[in-house]
Amino acid sequence: MSALTINPPYKPVSFSETVITELMIPSYSNFGGKIHGGILLSLMDKVAYVCAAKHAGNYCVTASIDTVDFLQPVEVGDLVSLMASVNYVGRTSLVVGIRVISENIKTNQVYHTNTSYFTMVAKDEQNEPVQVPGLILENRNHVRRFIEARRRKQLKQNYKQEADQIKMPDDEEMCKQLLVGERCMISE
Ligand SMILES: CC(C)(COP(=O)(O)OP(=O)(O)OC[C@H]1O[C@@H](n2cnc3c(N)ncnc32)[C@H](O)[C@@H]1OP(=O)(O)O)[C@@H](O)C(=O)NCCC(=O)NCCS
Repeated sequence: MSALTINPPYKPVSFSETVITELMIPSYSNFGGKIHGGILLSLMDKVAYVCAAKHAGNYCVTASIDTVDFLQPVEVGDLVSLMASVNYVGRTSLVVGIRVISENIKTNQVYHTNTSYFTMVAKDEQNEPVQVPGLILENRNHVRRFIEARRRKQLKQNYKQEADQIKMPDDEEMCKQLLVGERCMISE
């Protein structure tokens, strides 16, 4: 489906779905011979940008990245594919879900390396956040992803409120009590 020109514009998820496949070359590896996590993060940022900018029709910046857990090591010689789609749109922000898989070319074994969610914000020529098109959900999976992304956004807001209140107690004895059982010591 192509972009609709109704006002305000809406675009289908399929309009901006993006896949990047990259060969893992030796210069991407660490001392242990596995691929650096930072290489994968950089590729994820790239595919998130392409997907977000295509939906937004504007330049986008990365506002935040959800937890990234590396489930499997990636080897030199593997083919890594990053599949990205817009899961959710707010006013000026959108959430891009990215699934990363690695494939051993000789054995054809495919591993799920990680899944993560990038929040991107569209910017106008003055570098100000600008409204993004609405999202046309084309199947049940798109609906599920939209609802799940909205829930994660709410949970993140709750978490932020609680995290902002974390504060060390003024009382020194109370501090020491809080550290009982931890692998640390306060130098005198
Ligand atoms: C992210 C950024 C655009 C937010 O700008 P801002 O002036 O705070 O804008 P607003 O408060 O109007 O927020 C704009 C949108 O971003 C969202 N947003 C802002 N910070 C966010 C965060 N940390 N996580 C998720 N969403 C965020 C807001 O919820 C809002 O979404 P909505 O319009 O869909 O409701 C701005 O902080 C920025 O440009 N940061 C640098 C981004 C960058 O350079 N990234 C590359 C890093 S190397």
